[in-house]
Amino acid sequence: MNILLTGGAGYIGSHAAVVLCAAGHNVVILDNFCNSQHSVLDRLTKIVGKPMPCIEGDIRDTLLLEKVLKDYKIETVMHFAGLKAVGESVQNPLDYFDNNVGGTISLLHAMRSNNVKSMVFSSSATVYGMPNYLPLDEAHPTQAKNPYGRSKLHIEEILTDLAASDPAWHISFLRYFNPVGAHESGLIGEDPNGIPNNLVPYIAQVALGRLPHLNVYGDDYPTADGSGVRDYIHVMDLAEGHLAALNYIQQQPGVCVFNLGSGKGSSVFEVVKVFENENASSIPLKVTMRRIGDVSECYAKVDKANIHLNWKATRTLQDMCRSTWNFQKNHKCANQ
Ligand code: NAD
Ligand code: UFG
Repeated sequence: MNILLTGGAGYIGSHAAVVLCAAGHNVVILDNFCNSQHSVLDRLTKIVGKPMPCIEGDIRDTLLLEKVLKDYKIETVMHFAGLKAVGESVQNPLDYFDNNVGGTISLLHAMRSNNVKSMVFSSSATVYGMPNYLPLDEAHPTQAKNPYGRSKLHIEEILTDLAASDPAWHISFLRYFNPVGAHESGLIGEDPNGIPNNLVPYIAQVALGRLPHLNVYGDDYPTADGSGVRDYIHVMDLAEGHLAALNYIQQQPGVCVFNLGSGKGSSVFEVVKVFENENASSIPLKVTMRRIGDVSECYAKVDKANIHLNWKATRTLQDMCRSTWNFQKNHKCANQ
């Protein structure tokens, strides 16, 4: 199929591009590079063995999207493009609604007028808000805790209304838990600008010596070792989940929702230990106050994706930590 990846130069989109190309699909990337680097395109070429068309542009530019959909005879869209920093969304909510919600509406207009009515959308476990029970299944009530989460929920609602208005739409929301790790080549991975917000990229920066220690946000949660528990999923498993969802929606009109996680919770201390063991490094720690808005535990029930998508995460936390470090080391050298 001819597939447009909005935000395909970013962390998750670039890994999905590799998996989709390996499965024989034609991938076209559209990205405005507000949170990615142009050099990712050369690195993708090295991995897949041929260049991938990439259009530098913004999803809010409906006319450009219409042209791209026509020129490349796009049949389906994977919609990764979006802003994703929770703290920034609290400071600049309008930017988040404009980019994420406005951008999606612009994309949907272009898709509808070109009769492209199939989409896999990058949603997030953040739409569950504070867990009422664990593991979180797709029927858990949704609730936004911040403008970023609200933008994801608004998009889910818009897509649901759209599919209800026209049975020709085939849409899947993929609610990601905590994606980490990198492609085994070490050529692509997560490389956030500035000081990382997320645990594993932060640990990698400490291991590189760029940051002095990891702040552990609380060791007094009601968890086995007192630190926060999350469901980490290898980005390559996540990318394979996109291929499975793409195949599924071909036969499935309307909207379907899937959690993509490992189904297993790991604590901050466990992640640090595994990272240290895998990479023979030592990560200095300081236990600090809890981070505002954090929940003690969050992990997925993944039965629905297992059954309907015939997909499950197979890579371990060891694989996630090893591949993260492999990418960071390579990338550090590449940037020197
Ligand atoms: P990322 O920032 O690495 O990738 C997003 C890409 O979209 C970037 O390359 C960015 O330049 C591009 N982009 C942003 N706004 C754009 C616009 N208006 N027009 C064109 N391109 C634009 O983020 P990621 O981690 O790869 O996340 C991809 C998607 O998955 C996002 O929608 C994010 O909200 C969602 N998600 C991510 C996580 C996570 O932990 N990484 C968790 C849940 C959901
Ligand atoms: N943590 C630390 N120190 C750090 C960073 C994180 O102790 O420097 C802890 C957190 O308190 C939490 C765990 O590590 O217990 C994971 O934190 P992350 O920031 O890596 O991930 P979150 O689960 O808080 O949030 C991520 C994304 C959200 C998304 C959510 C669910 O950042 O956007 O996963 O998908 F909504």
